[in-house]
Amino acid sequence: MKIAIVGTGYVGLVTGTCFAEMGTEVFCVDIDRKKIENLKNGIIPIFEPGLDEMVERNHKAGRLQFTTDLASIINEVDIVFSAVGTPPDEDGSADLKYVLEVARTVGQHLNKYMVIVTKSTVPVGTAQLVKKTIREELDKRGLTDHEFDVASNPEFLKEGAAISDFMHPDRVVIGIESEKAEAMMAKLYKPFTLNNYPIIYTDIPSAEMIKYAANAMLATRISFMNDIANLCEIVGADVNMVRKGIGSDARIGSKFLYAGCGYGGSCFPKDVKALISTAAKKGYNMSILNAVESVNERQKNILFDKLMKYYNGNIEGKVIAIWGLAFKPKTDDMREAPSLVLINKILKAGGQVRVYDPVAMEETERRIGKTVIYAKDIYDATLDADAILMVTEWNEFRLPAWEVIRKTMKKAVVFDGRNIYNRQEMKDLGFDYFGIGF
Ligand SMILES: NC(=O)c1ccc[n+]([C@@H]2O[C@H](COP(=O)([O-])OP(=O)(O)OC[C@H]3O[C@@H](n4cnc5c(N)ncnc54)[C@H](O)[C@@H]3O)[C@@H](O)[C@H]2O)c1
Repeated sequence: MKIAIVGTGYVGLVTGTCFAEMGTEVFCVDIDRKKIENLKNGIIPIFEPGLDEMVERNHKAGRLQFTTDLASIINEVDIVFSAVGTPPDEDGSADLKYVLEVARTVGQHLNKYMVIVTKSTVPVGTAQLVKKTIREELDKRGLTDHEFDVASNPEFLKEGAAISDFMHPDRVVIGIESEKAEAMMAKLYKPFTLNNYPIIYTDIPSAEMIKYAANAMLATRISFMNDIANLCEIVGADVNMVRKGIGSDARIGSKFLYAGCGYGGSCFPKDVKALISTAAKKGYNMSILNAVESVNERQKNILFDKLMKYYNGNIEGKVIAIWGLAFKPKTDDMREAPSLVLINKILKAGGQVRVYDPVAMEETERRIGKTVIYAKDIYDATLDADAILMVTEWNEFRLPAWEVIRKTMKKAVVFDGRNIYNRQEMKDLGFDYFGIGF
């Protein structure tokens, strides 16, 4: 079986590589020439654990190829996946221009039966829009009876664990409207079903909605817990204990209940906005998701507010160390990262910022230039610092040599945005320590 994955980003590259790993012949397509050239030369555009080695192996074996020219390979493949970006438009709705661009190219060059699958996160109705766009292009070519199918196969992988999520999914969701397309998708996913991973077949609108509902639910859990954490602080409870207490209830479960300094990344913020916008266009108010968003906006300021309170509203000239920049560990993705909000606020208040992240420094510099000092490691970041803000919970931040750090800092104070340190231990080490929700 041969497939094309259009859009070679976090999702497209992982998807293409994992299908190739299972023996499928894959073309990864992107309009970004530099990215494709680099990939041909073994340079991987993103940091994702285990991906470089898997790309290299499958590329060498000839199962994974890279191209910028969808038109030239389209009639060699049986399925085309669209995994291009769907960034938020000005009104928060998903911008479908890349998705529809791919559909137009497909319609302009298609000469055989094919299934066109949307893997990008897209609002309900997009598959029908893709179908209409392809049909219009075929009609222009006089191919009014040309047969093809569309399908929806949303992706649930998590950056930082993308390969294991793709290879061992909790479930695969496939929205389908024809038996022929279902048979093709079943064949493609057979290696996964052999490993007993469940495939849930649905109608197409439901598959499109499942992805948004899943992300909205996860974002809701985070904002809910952040709201509880803030109340814990006010009333004298400890959110870490509350989390254990409620998470052990089987109806609730323990995942995604960690208080912190807000969710970020390329998915939750835009998907929550897009769902609110979809509903609003139909005259429906998603009141829970509006609250989820506003709690998250407030939470992104929480470390800054604590820092300002500690320094009586004035941090001018203070050196602030930031540990962790990426929106979560094990990725270099800086899209909507809470660290960016924090850096901006500190700089505006006259503070200086020293940052360290194991992999996201280059991407941060690309976004904010030399406005901050890029440190060599966590210790270098804390040199002469008046405070440490722990923003992304990389493993290597979990057990630092606090005795060394205390000596290099001007003022031994830590604001822990992910609650990974112990208050009593930090106190015993001579630090002022502030977490979230206790
Ligand atoms: N990143 C994640 O963790 C994740 C997880 C699940 C779902 N998703 C969804 O998957 C989609 C892709 O996300 P991503 O993070 O991989 O995006 P990305 O920005 O990393 O990658 C998108 C790629 O598409 C390319 N592209 C744009 N237009 C193109 C065209 N016409 N032809 C070929 N290539 C084109 C871009 O150059 C880019 O390389 C989004 O809808 C996102 O919501 C993302």
